[in-house]
Amino acid sequence: MKHKPPRVLFATPEAAPVVKTGGLGDVAGALPAALRRLGLDVRMLLPGYPAVLESLEGLRRVAEIGAEGMLPGSRLLRGRVGEVPVYVLESAELYDRAGGPYAGPDGQDWPDNDRRFASFGRVAALLGREACPLRWRADVLHCNDWQTGLAPAYLHFAGDAHAASLITVHNLAFQGLFPSERLAGLRLPAASFDMHGLEFHGRISFLKAALYYANAISTVSTTYAREIQSEPLGFGLQGLLAARAGVLHGILNGIDSQTWNPSTDRALPLRYGPRSLIRKSASREALCRRMGIDRPGAGGALAGIVSRLTHQKGVDLVIDALPALRARGLSLAVLGRGDPELERSLTEASRRWPGAVAVQIGFEEPLAHLIEAGADLFLMPSRFEPCGLNQMYSQRYGTPPVVHATGGLADSVVDCTDETLADGTAGGFVFEAPNVPALVGAVERALELFGQPPRWRRLQRCAMAKDFGWERAARAYADLYRSLAPRVARSAARRPRSRP
Ligand code: ADP
Ligand code: GLC
Repeated sequence: MKHKPPRVLFATPEAAPVVKTGGLGDVAGALPAALRRLGLDVRMLLPGYPAVLESLEGLRRVAEIGAEGMLPGSRLLRGRVGEVPVYVLESAELYDRAGGPYAGPDGQDWPDNDRRFASFGRVAALLGREACPLRWRADVLHCNDWQTGLAPAYLHFAGDAHAASLITVHNLAFQGLFPSERLAGLRLPAASFDMHGLEFHGRISFLKAALYYANAISTVSTTYAREIQSEPLGFGLQGLLAARAGVLHGILNGIDSQTWNPSTDRALPLRYGPRSLIRKSASREALCRRMGIDRPGAGGALAGIVSRLTHQKGVDLVIDALPALRARGLSLAVLGRGDPELERSLTEASRRWPGAVAVQIGFEEPLAHLIEAGADLFLMPSRFEPCGLNQMYSQRYGTPPVVHATGGLADSVVDCTDETLADGTAGGFVFEAPNVPALVGAVERALELFGQPPRWRRLQRCAMAKDFGWERAARAYADLYRSLAPRVARSAARRPRSRP
């Protein structure tokens, strides 16, 4: 029996290439399109930041949303990004400002982020209710991270919910916590402010709201789905997550294999593939020139890092490991921004080892591509990593990653051993504990193999042959949507067939 595929609203606070601060942007930029390729009617909902309004063509107004409590009136516009229809929530008061999606130019969170994202969540919920003002109505509301966390709560309390809701947790460390006094203004019922609800240590938690009220929860790797059910990676929500384990799914992200493809990448001076790895050295040369790194001496390797500079990413471990890594002839190219203390330490390291350690503070997409291609290995010693994308990009670029065995890093990097190299599954170097000796040990193993060019090339080719495309994950989400929206499947099944 053929089921009508559910209509899905993919609500996200960012989507590449229009607006991206990290991995969620990449996911939202690729997953909805991959789902549409499977025949699903997936549409996106984005806040109307200036970048969104400027870059989406042909936006037209499709609904007016009235003000409620602290939530100002807004308009819903319709446009598209590539193949994906997009609804944009336009509100000059909430989103028309210079700065990032979550923080002002000074790096401080916008003080009214609760209203900004409560409004967003409320409209997301509306598109899955009987009261939906559009002709199109969602059967499944797919929310992403705390910024969309209130949507399942609004849907739950609306009384006319049509859609089922799914929250995907991209990082449990970001929870969206706000003072309890804001509850009424956000149009949340007093009854929701309970430990069996959205209260978290006396505050409103947008993320907990979703974890509590959504019909299902997913996160971006199977290992992370397990890790967040206990301390310390549950960040205080482990009890709730363990209690909801029956509806908690781990689906490893994919990568956009068009954007991240060394054989077509325009950010590289010379494109290459697994059979033309010799051409990869042009990217290495360009990277060294661009960042002022002396070409590493014979046998010396160049490692790359592209990262938010935070404790999560283990950047401090790399800094502490630098004397040992330098003693083994390793050079390092870092692109990142974040914690000022880590930015300072990295800059100091670049002064201590000029020509060997280079640091670019900032967010630069083309340089990220050049590092993936030009480095010999990629370092990702994250203390925790829900999924992580760079370790998949780097494998695709023939730049084996060195990773800590956590979350999606554990699920996407097969450690290189004699066996895995022989059977073709090897992808990089995995270490078990997030500490300096373990990191240095894994880099040593990498350097030993790097000194054996035929075996190194074999590792590069094994890594490049892996399929990290979105199709596998898209199929898993499609199955999950179908399981969440049986009403759609049932009504389609009841409908008389037009032909025998
Ligand atoms: P997270 O979302 O936790 O930061 P991910 O590995 O999932 O980590 O995704 C990060 C994304 O952001 C990748 O596409 C990465 O290349 C990109 N990125 C991170 N920092 C920078 C930077 N400083 N410049 C350019 N791209 C960056
Ligand atoms: C978060 C996580 C990262 C993940 C990304 C996309 O930012 O920190 O591990 O890859 O979301 O899901």
